[in-house]
Amino acid sequence: MKKKVLITSALPYINNIPHMGHMVGCHLPADIFARYCRQKGYDVTFVGGSDEHGTPSVIAAGKEDKNIKDFVDNLHEIHKKIYERMNISYDIYSRTSDEEHFDMTQEIFLDIYNSGYVVEKEEELYYSEEDKMFLPDRFLIGECPSCRSEANSDQCESCGKVLSSKELVNPKSILSGSTPVLRKSTHLYLDLAKISSKLDEWLESKRDIFKKNVYSEAKKWIKEGLRARSITRDMSWGVPVPLDGYEGKVFYVWFDAPIGYMTFAKKLGVNWEDREIFHFLGKDNIPFHTVFWPSILIAANRKLPYNVVGYNYLTFEGEKFSKSKSIGVFCTNIHDESLDIDMLRFYLASCLPESKDSDFRWKEFRQVVNSQLIGNVANFFNRTVSMINKYFDGEISLSEMPSYPILSEKKIFSNDIGILFEKGEIRAGIKKILEFSSLGNSFIDSKEPWNLAKTDKKELSKVLYSCLDHARTLAILMSPIVPDKMATFWKDQLLLTDVPSKPGLWNLEENFPLIHKIGRPNPLYKRVDEEELTRIINILS
Ligand code: 2FM
Ligand code: ZN
Repeated sequence: MKKKVLITSALPYINNIPHMGHMVGCHLPADIFARYCRQKGYDVTFVGGSDEHGTPSVIAAGKEDKNIKDFVDNLHEIHKKIYERMNISYDIYSRTSDEEHFDMTQEIFLDIYNSGYVVEKEEELYYSEEDKMFLPDRFLIGECPSCRSEANSDQCESCGKVLSSKELVNPKSILSGSTPVLRKSTHLYLDLAKISSKLDEWLESKRDIFKKNVYSEAKKWIKEGLRARSITRDMSWGVPVPLDGYEGKVFYVWFDAPIGYMTFAKKLGVNWEDREIFHFLGKDNIPFHTVFWPSILIAANRKLPYNVVGYNYLTFEGEKFSKSKSIGVFCTNIHDESLDIDMLRFYLASCLPESKDSDFRWKEFRQVVNSQLIGNVANFFNRTVSMINKYFDGEISLSEMPSYPILSEKKIFSNDIGILFEKGEIRAGIKKILEFSSLGNSFIDSKEPWNLAKTDKKELSKVLYSCLDHARTLAILMSPIVPDKMATFWKDQLLLTDVPSKPGLWNLEENFPLIHKIGRPNPLYKRVDEEELTRIINILS
């Protein structure tokens, strides 16, 4: 039986154009993992989409004086094309404003409601007399009670603390700047206290599966004691609440957004219940995916995720990404055809903020691409293909497999790398792939084919065959990270059939053909010199 996995990447808010921080925080590692799983032969569904509700998009549309629907329609298309350009292999990239999503959200809500996990409460909430409205989430700003930075009433962006409006110090309306007053409003709350022990039980079962930061963040929440959290808002943009008396109210964005994963899977005809679910997401999304979302699933009696792979932050040259201050690497001109997306993917993958925050540095980009992608991997490919052309006119012909130890390394490596990937340790997996590549280069150095060419052509053909087999495996292992160039190398230089990303190839059941003619060498990447770096920086800044 094929293992069935459902991989999700956090659904981005549709309030701005994504940057590389968003890419490394979820889309790219989820994509690398999805590509690996397909190569492994699993039945894979990889879903993503735009998180269109909530105050982030309403506020952004308001700032541009645009109608909210037109605003999200436009940004959704922009996001979708950017992920396509970055080669994120979504099986579906959908949106939470679709009708199917409204139906799914209401269905899940009614299950939770009918099971007794929802309570109705009348509470005092901030109301702006000047703006004539309640001020939900990002409409209300003030000081974070924890770190004292400016924060909105949903979450503090500086320290990540999830807030509720009354915790904000010195609250103000973002619309008029006025100080709001407290006014009563009735809302629905998810009874987290009632779910807490089941949630804790689930979390404990994940102690060895989740990464430390993910487990401990969720544990901290449970230990502090969970309180009921409101799941409705006084707004009109969102999924309507299917209960009498709730006209004019919608669900809180963090209630409907993760249900999007289910909606999108269903659109592909995929059943949530029979999949192993992997969520990929950035640091500030961790509490929502380890406490709030699993609580919804427990209350609705749905399958819980197998792993929640949470990332840390990416900074840029030591500073926080900021579009307004032009600090960062942005996707605005990502469609420029002269950009080598593989190079960008490779560097981003090498600095995934897995165990701690990491930093994007242009100098390091150049160094990593030149020394690892080109100097190690592409160099091994090029040496192999060139020597076979030089010494054997591109044709290899052996009657049996040679017996060099290097030939038995591939299964060990692919297996170990797979284990790392499945634990969500993508970066460690990549490091191992590079080790595998170095092994190929050291093998060439130790065998000195240029000397064998003068003394022992038979031995030379065995050595170069082994290099070809190693190159075939390396192309398979590198394919989740740099899919385009591995496909080109496979097709134009190894002259092999199919593609390196073919389902099942990761298991390495076949070797390189013993008799085979390959193509001409052709460097896969152009070295990044000073001038080229400046050019790339100009496009992406
Ligand atoms: O942080 C964000 O951009 C949120 N829109 C992520 C939502 S993830 C999921 F739950 F949909
Ligand atoms: Zn804070």
